[in-house]
Amino acid sequence: MNSHSSDYDVIILGGGAAGLMCAISAGQRGRRVLVVEHANRIGKKILMSGGGRCNFTNLNTAPANFISANPHFCKSALARYTPWDFVALVDRHDIPWHEKGPGQLFCDRSSKDIVAMLAHECSQARVDIRTGCAVETVEKADRFTLTTSAGSFHCDSLVVATGGLSIPRMGATDFGHRLARQFGLDVLPLRAGLVPFTLPAKALSHWAELSGVSLDVNANSESKDFRENMLFTHRGLSGPAMLQLSSYWQYGESISVDLMPEDDAAGWLDNQRSDRPRQTLRNALAHSFSKRFADLFCDGCLAGFLDPDTVVAELTRTQMQQIAACIHDLRFQPNGTEGYRTAEVTLGGVDTQALSSKTMQANAVPGLFLIGEVVDVTGQLGGYNFHWAWASGWCAGQAV
Ligand code: FDA
Repeated sequence: MNSHSSDYDVIILGGGAAGLMCAISAGQRGRRVLVVEHANRIGKKILMSGGGRCNFTNLNTAPANFISANPHFCKSALARYTPWDFVALVDRHDIPWHEKGPGQLFCDRSSKDIVAMLAHECSQARVDIRTGCAVETVEKADRFTLTTSAGSFHCDSLVVATGGLSIPRMGATDFGHRLARQFGLDVLPLRAGLVPFTLPAKALSHWAELSGVSLDVNANSESKDFRENMLFTHRGLSGPAMLQLSSYWQYGESISVDLMPEDDAAGWLDNQRSDRPRQTLRNALAHSFSKRFADLFCDGCLAGFLDPDTVVAELTRTQMQQIAACIHDLRFQPNGTEGYRTAEVTLGGVDTQALSSKTMQANAVPGLFLIGEVVDVTGQLGGYNFHWAWASGWCAGQAV
């Protein structure tokens, strides 16, 4: 360890997923590496991820799972460091894991396993880590000079791995974006992604009663649709379907929810009429969903054009078509999202046009690298964001 040195080949700002992977990749190549982390410990977001079990990669990772102004940028890194490379590392550490959704790999025990693995690999690669260290200034002449709360440091390569803006209480800052601008790089507009929607007070007074209720739906906004669960909350709508949609949603768009994504609702109503003709529409819906949901759906969406307590045998053909249309197209008009306070990721970031997709180095600033979430590459829900952190970090580590 170089614990008393201020002179390094590589200094990495940020001891999160991308920064630690970059440190390992560079340290294994014999580079003298320092990781500077301003929080009191490394990998805090990893610890809180995946409900404490870290969805650490996705076996189906492909460029289509990422949002970026430059959709081609992520291709090289994803091809060079694959989900199987990360699985091999996890397996070398005997960390038990399982596949939850399609391709989504989670720790069996705890996210702590991943942080411990990264810390161990850093130590094996003789990487120095300084936690609780705040960077004050960064200057570049022949080399980079950093002034920090722990003194001055010098390096040939500086890697910015300070992440996005989500969950400020976990140490998120805009330092990386400011540093990028200091070196003449553009930062594309930032906004919260993978975040719950909020509903206006009037809609909330109706739907918030269902807080905690989850439904299997197909949810779509104007540009994208997702077949996942949605969850009603005290503030609006959450669950995987809504988190996914939030990364594509634009202010003012409405969300359409198909409550019977696998079935034709008109056919379902026909079956109800032949199987149990004397039941009310309300009861038929309560059997398919839940009583709580059926009551609110009936009173909020159907009561305008029929009495939900009509027995299904007496429904007219037109009424059945109207009911089916409501089931396949329940509309919500969010008035925003919960923002960075609860968002899993930050959309936008350092414009990739100015970076090498192979090394993550800024074309106009030799020695400056940017990796992970600070860059304008954002994954969908399902382990893709960590995979981008590992892949971009590994690639930069091979070049620093
Ligand atoms: P990351 O945020 O991990 O690390 C940045 C580091 O830089 C932090 O340690 C921060 O303290 C430090 N830093 C910031 N400013 C600094 C400064 N000025 N000086 C020094 N250090 C500074 N993804 C996924 O694929 N699977 C999942 O299960 C989840 N789950 C999940 C849950 C929750 C609640 C959140 C908020 C996010 C997720 N994510 C996720 C997203 C994932 O956590 C995220 O995309 C990666 O952690 C990004 O890795 P980075 O290394 O780029 O940033």
